[in-house]
Amino acid sequence: MKTLRRIRALREALEPVVAGRTVGLVPTMGAYHAGHSSLFEAARSECDIVVVSLFVNPAQFEAGDDLASYPRDEKRDRRLAKAAGVDFLFAPSTEEMYPAGYSTWVDVEGLSERLEGRFRPGHFRGVATICLKLFNIVRPTRVYFGQKDAQQTAIVKRLAQDLDLGIEIRVLPTIRDEDGLALSSRNVHLSARERRAAIALPRALEAGHRAWRSGGDPVAAARATLNGLAPDYVEVFGTDERLVLAAAVRIGRTRLIDNVPLDEETP
Ligand code: PAF
Repeated sequence: MKTLRRIRALREALEPVVAGRTVGLVPTMGAYHAGHSSLFEAARSECDIVVVSLFVNPAQFEAGDDLASYPRDEKRDRRLAKAAGVDFLFAPSTEEMYPAGYSTWVDVEGLSERLEGRFRPGHFRGVATICLKLFNIVRPTRVYFGQKDAQQTAIVKRLAQDLDLGIEIRVLPTIRDEDGLALSSRNVHLSARERRAAIALPRALEAGHRAWRSGGDPVAAARATLNGLAPDYVEVFGTDERLVLAAAVRIGRTRLIDNVPLDEETP
């Protein structure tokens, strides 16, 4: 696996090897867990060349968000990416991605203002912008995302469709701990007590899913099962392709999001 930090170096490394081949891109912010590995493995099995980007994108963090404390361990991430068979790790600096004078932003209207967008204004502008930049740099055939970030994947799909990017967006199932908590890089911030409390989030979503399947109100059922956790939102979120029950909660200083697809029999 080659680690590259400059856009030009990555383009030069890709140029001689991509002709007639499929390129899979997994955009990440590092702090890898089994959810990331599942994306790397899917890309490895479906594409000839696998590129992973590792960039903690300041543009998607608002003032007061957890940019400074976002977990970072590039050495460990490099080891995990290499073990998963990744060919190129692209780990640029902030200056490389947003040089002085940078002033172009991508806004996916409508979808970006809902759910997360209400609590993190500007977040999806940062996500859409960095994703489009990465797509332009790597020119992938397929890009891999996790279902846990359902709104993010809906926005990236919209972006790809509206701007005719000709890229396939692959969305893979959420990977969970044994007790059901969705894996997230932010879980490392939870204390033992907060980690125990966090389990109420997937349980509430399961209760909502059960209610939906039996004709009840999924939002009311989920809210009633949150066990004292105060949600930023619990909402049914529909796109052209998917209907999910999504929620966000704050536990101490950590904010967790999760969702269950309502169009599947089991959450
Ligand atoms: O999901 C993430 O880790 C980030 O939002 C992404 C897609 C890598 C863009 O920075």
